[in-house]
Amino acid sequence: MGGLGAIAAMTPLTINDLARGIDMDPATPLLWALRDGANLTGAKYGCGNGDCGACMVLVDGTALRSCLVTLGEAEGRFVQTIEGLSRGGLHPVQQALVDEGAIQCGFCTPGIVLAAIGLLDRNGRPSEEEIKAAIANLCRCGAYPRIIRAIRSASGQRIRRTPPDDAAPAPGFETAPGSETS
Ligand code: FES
Ligand code: FES
Repeated sequence: MGGLGAIAAMTPLTINDLARGIDMDPATPLLWALRDGANLTGAKYGCGNGDCGACMVLVDGTALRSCLVTLGEAEGRFVQTIEGLSRGGLHPVQQALVDEGAIQCGFCTPGIVLAAIGLLDRNGRPSEEEIKAAIANLCRCGAYPRIIRAIRSASGQRIRRTPPDDAAPAPGFETAPGSETS
């Protein structure tokens, strides 16, 4: 907290099913609130302008670029990051990306996984054109054909949003609701 205490305020929100409070300026981009305030570094900084999708997270089930959302705008909302997906094993989208060999450097992967989940929650059987339209994320490794095949492969499968009760916490998770400070 330190010198920022005068301008910071505790912002309550739910991250990966845990109630959290983040003590940062509410104008902070959600990306940095997650990375620096909650130690969840799965959302990546690519462009900071909304162009690349590397920072994508789900907010109330909708895939959003967290560099364009402020912490204040996320107050009271349910945020899902890549860290919340794998506590009970790989999510079907993640498994499909592995099976298709669609992960090269992996920098774009968390954003693509969450964008795909956001799409498949709305449209369980998207066409290739619908996938291309919905997944505008940049992959500098050029794995697009494999990414599209993986998302088509994962479509129609049961999408598990909630990990099983006995799943081990993922790195960066607390076992009980708590608060974070910057
Ligand atoms: Fe957010 Fe590129 S870092 S879209
Ligand atoms: Fe490297 Fe997509 S796998 S940026």
